[in-house]
Amino acid sequence: MKLPSAYQSKDKEEYVHQIFSSIAGKYDWMNTIMTFNLDSRWRRFTVEQANLSEGSVGLDVCCGTGKLCIEQAQKVGQTGKVIGLDFCENMLKVAEKNLANHPLQSRIELVQGNAIDLPFEDNTFDCATIGFALRNVPDITKTIAEMMRVVKPGGRVVSLELAKPSAPVFKQLYWFYFEKFVPLLGKFRVGVEGPYSYLPYSVKIFPHQQEIKELFSQIGLKDVACHELSGGIVAVHVGTKP
Ligand SMILES: C[S@@+](CC[C@H](N)C(=O)[O-])C[C@H]1O[C@@H](n2cnc3c(N)ncnc32)[C@H](O)[C@@H]1O
Repeated sequence: MKLPSAYQSKDKEEYVHQIFSSIAGKYDWMNTIMTFNLDSRWRRFTVEQANLSEGSVGLDVCCGTGKLCIEQAQKVGQTGKVIGLDFCENMLKVAEKNLANHPLQSRIELVQGNAIDLPFEDNTFDCATIGFALRNVPDITKTIAEMMRVVKPGGRVVSLELAKPSAPVFKQLYWFYFEKFVPLLGKFRVGVEGPYSYLPYSVKIFPHQQEIKELFSQIGLKDVACHELSGGIVAVHVGTKP
């Protein structure tokens, strides 16, 4: 497979930052189309795993346009709070727009920062979620460890990520759609092909969902579970801080 050249030559963090800066305005639209709107169902399931309740304080790492923040805000009630963190200004600007007239806006605060060095004290949050972003960070282990550090004992760390389906035929159809059709869709509807060629590539080189499950345990999370959704297109990993 041909690797995106910038990904080989430049620092990954810089490359990822540049990708999301360039597609921020079309990100939500592409997600809805590419996933046939399944992404909202996956996000709902992810936040259900976070075990939030009235008054909880939640964190969404790599929050992008704020979709998981909004899901969390529904769970924490009027007395709760949700922080969304992302390093990309353009994605945060779209999040601000998405929240501007949203009824749950007052429960959500957006912060610019890096997932591998979270600007929060230990044991601050009742949960930390991350959606479609473990693939994109420069250090997966460090990111999960940081999420665990800022969560209170008993709190959950939850990741929603694209995965690798295993069922024959479905698997082949999936990769055909993902590797051939999605980059074309990106080229014609967003005006750039690069980020949507990087997408299937980034899933291919990302560890298998079973390896991520093992990593959650190695980092020290307990009761680790991996839920495969939609035939294994995505996986939701959940662990509890001891
Ligand atoms: C695929 S988007 C996912 C956005 C959102 N979580 C969602 O569910 O749609 C990946 C996001 O991760 C952010 N990101 C990537 N690496 C990051 C890092 N090291 N620190 C903070 N944000 C990062 C990008 O800016 C982008 O907004």
